Amino acid sequence: MHETSKRYIQQRKSIGFVPTMGALHKGHLSLFRRARDENDIVVASIFVNPIQFGPNEDYDRYPRDIEGDIAKLERESVDVLFLPDVKSIYPATFKTFVYVTDLSDKLCGAFRPNHFRGVTTVVNKLFNVVKPHKAYFGQKDYQQYLIIKRMVEDLNIDIEIILCPTIREEDGLAMSSRNSYLSSEERIAAKIIYKTLLEATNLIRSNLQPSDIKQRMLQMLLEENHVKEVQYAGIYDPESLDELDEIKRQCLVAIAIKIGETRLIDNFLVDV
Ligand code: PAF
Repeated sequence: MHETSKRYIQQRKSIGFVPTMGALHKGHLSLFRRARDENDIVVASIFVNPIQFGPNEDYDRYPRDIEGDIAKLERESVDVLFLPDVKSIYPATFKTFVYVTDLSDKLCGAFRPNHFRGVTTVVNKLFNVVKPHKAYFGQKDYQQYLIIKRMVEDLNIDIEIILCPTIREEDGLAMSSRNSYLSSEERIAAKIIYKTLLEATNLIRSNLQPSDIKQRMLQMLLEENHVKEVQYAGIYDPESLDELDEIKRQCLVAIAIKIGETRLIDNFLVDV
């Protein structure tokens, strides 16, 4: 991959990069298309990164479909697939981690210790190997985008980080590889996330206080029988990720819940 990228750079070709963990869905495809439009060369990586999963999380059963993924990458005219194995990313001698303080401990970070440390470490490594000019991330993982943007600025990494819109199923559920874990009943119940985000957006626009909006969000989510746990739901500052006391010009409405055993997240950025 090093050599391939060096060659493209010598040829003055721009490289757009989409890092993924595979099990590609329409959300990923939209990132490849955006990268295709904006760059000479599109590189995708598929690597299920063990260090971003907690000990009781779904690393072992995370969906893997390399053949299906390769067919999709070919259809999208992705030029290069970087498909490293775990030993080449984390050899036995590996000792270095990249950790963005503060932002990594909020929202999802509060429930998934070390998750973002795993993400920033692997993304840093992938950036160093792929050497892209631009890298593309989906808004469903807004916190991940924000943390990677912070890392790139703080470490003077010369890569443009681009946030792309969340792609949704017809009923509003954000596309995610983890949706495949849902039973048919849970899949129906999962609609409540999008509904709650819409309701919160309306309430923001009708000038309700964040604490009241949060109460309404919790009520809606908990009324749905399949929702086993609400990890967070509320109105946050899109830069600091702190919970807001008052509505600002731009608000992040974000939710993380468990439907059965499946953890799902989603968010809207609302301009007031
Ligand atoms: O969003 C993902 O799929 C992963 O967190 C990423 C960015 C590929 C790092 O492993």
